[in-house]
Amino acid sequence: MGFQITKAVIPAAGLGTRFLPATKAMPKEMLPVVDRPAIQYVVEEAVSAGLHDVLMITGRNKNALENHFDRNAELEATLLKKGDSERLRKVNESTDLADVHYVRQGDPKGLGHAVLRAQMHVGREPFAVLLGDDIIDARDPLLTKMMSEQIKRNATIVALLEVDPSQTHLYGVATVEETEDEDVVRITDLVEKPAPGTSPSNYAIIGRYVLRPEIFDVLEKTEPGKGGEIQLTDALQKMAGAPEWTGGVYGVVFRGRRYDTGDRLDYLKAIVQLASDHSDLGDDFRPWLKEFSSALDS
Ligand code: UTP
Repeated sequence: MGFQITKAVIPAAGLGTRFLPATKAMPKEMLPVVDRPAIQYVVEEAVSAGLHDVLMITGRNKNALENHFDRNAELEATLLKKGDSERLRKVNESTDLADVHYVRQGDPKGLGHAVLRAQMHVGREPFAVLLGDDIIDARDPLLTKMMSEQIKRNATIVALLEVDPSQTHLYGVATVEETEDEDVVRITDLVEKPAPGTSPSNYAIIGRYVLRPEIFDVLEKTEPGKGGEIQLTDALQKMAGAPEWTGGVYGVVFRGRRYDTGDRLDYLKAIVQLASDHSDLGDDFRPWLKEFSSALDS
């Protein structure tokens, strides 16, 4: 049995080049998805899994992120004066959500490098990593399953999605073996963004991890890989190859709804899906969407 997991790390220091120019002066994690920035969904997910201690790894445009999770006294006073308690509640939601800490990455040298910056804050405990541009639908819980598998197996756990073979070159991809649980596989090898036609499977790693602290020891020795970046996948591959001291790496296969908001097409899909189900907007949005899409066919 492992330790209780209490900390979430959210890397949000990437350059977001796929979304330029929107991300020229603002992190992509701050792009609005219906009425909240993407990263607020991610913090909400961590909190609903019981992780109130959140460390964000930030980059050069960190101000918007910090301000979003901080008080805005002027705005609060104005809303209070107007008696707009509903909007005041919405404004305070992100402030009161979690105990948020920040560390700068410095140069964006890759996801592995960003995770390594969490070492001082995390210490020698297992911890969760949630990518700030990857939204998992709140109706399809994933992190709680991953955390319970981490405790049960005392291993490192990643989230896997079965993707179309034409998409594997965009992800870290795992070679897997079955376990007694149909939703959990043992990972024997990993490769970052395999060239088309060379992928070992269609199990792609998506942006949720529950890592054992040995990842820091491995990351310290991990050289830059694909794209000249320090890749988390490369460190995980070493963990998978040394189960005697790392506990090995397992994948929880996710079959729910997930939106990669760092990709423009997926971002649009996320907005349409989440707006359709939105408590205030859905009833007005769905009939409009139906009319709009039938006009596309004609
Ligand atoms: P991505 O590869 O999606 O981010 O990293 P990117 O490099 O910003 O995106 P593009 O390809 O240029 O559009 C996945 C996650 O890791 C973070 C990103 O912020 C994102 O949440 N990341 C990536 C860092 O924090 N630091 C890095 O050096 C790289």
